[in-house]
Amino acid sequence: MDDFASSLAETADRVTVALDALLPRADGPEKRLNSAMRYAALGPGKRLRPFLTIECGRLVQADERALLRAACAVECIHAYSLIHDDLPSMDNDDLRRGRPTVHIAYDEATAILAGDALQSQAFEIICDQETCASPSACVDLARRLAQAAGARGMAGGQMLDMAIEEGRDTDIGLITRCQRLKTGALIAFCAEAGAIIVDAEREARTAFEGFAHDLGLCYQIVDDLLDAEGDENLTGKRTHKDDAQGKSTFVTILGVDGAREHARRLADQAKQHLDIFGGQSERLRQCVDYVLDRQS
Ligand code: IPE
Ligand code: IPE
Ligand code: MG
Ligand code: MG
Ligand code: MG
Repeated sequence: MDDFASSLAETADRVTVALDALLPRADGPEKRLNSAMRYAALGPGKRLRPFLTIECGRLVQADERALLRAACAVECIHAYSLIHDDLPSMDNDDLRRGRPTVHIAYDEATAILAGDALQSQAFEIICDQETCASPSACVDLARRLAQAAGARGMAGGQMLDMAIEEGRDTDIGLITRCQRLKTGALIAFCAEAGAIIVDAEREARTAFEGFAHDLGLCYQIVDDLLDAEGDENLTGKRTHKDDAQGKSTFVTILGVDGAREHARRLADQAKQHLDIFGGQSERLRQCVDYVLDRQS
């Protein structure tokens, strides 16, 4: 394992242990719901969003414990978004992270509730004073996460994704907007969380915004490339779904090579935004390369 892979794995383990302690135990009368939440949130994901949250936060010297909790909150939102994304009424997927999706392993009603409860869990974690000692930072962080997950963020992007699937108005501008909202918005929250916690200078915030803007789009383009040409055994999810569902993506518009080139350009731009942090941002630069070259 190279240096970057081992630091991503180390962060993933820490986040999984912390999430395990934060999520409700799978016992008592609601244990089916709690068990489904744990199945989704503790499953073998890459934990890339937590990694970004922690690494960006370290660049502005945010408290490690606060960053770990913010990272857990983001992963709860992400896990919720995946559960709902996989539902029969959305992408209708049966495989996620190499295992049956939540509505297959449990049932549809439980999957909807587990997604709902994970979303609430995220705000419970953010609003605890262990995450932010300062009430105003806590309010800012909660508002920013709500924006990233809501109608002007992930949920709005998922709505556009459905509209694009039906083939209405599929130009590159609309696809870009869809990808930025459905994937980019939450990644932007990750990049900015530490800066919000410490109330960082404008210069650092602007750098994180620019970084996330490019990395978020790059991330989703690579996801679409993996759907088109990835290996199901590595991605842990079905491939060729976008095509089968008639989705327009950067891959359908630009072709595989064009989409890869676009992703590469975005990755370069993302790294340039980190220049103000100098050598301290080396791990984040490696993370950008990882996002571009990932096979899973
Ligand atoms: C999949 O996200 C959905 C997208 C927004 C592209 P990830 O590729 O980060 O999935 P996990 O968490 O590693 O399973
Ligand atoms: C999902 O995008 C983005 C979310 C907000 C969950 P996709 O539908 O492409 O994600 P996968 O390919 O199922 O992971
Ligand atoms: Mg989808
Ligand atoms: Mg999907
Ligand atoms: Mg996809």
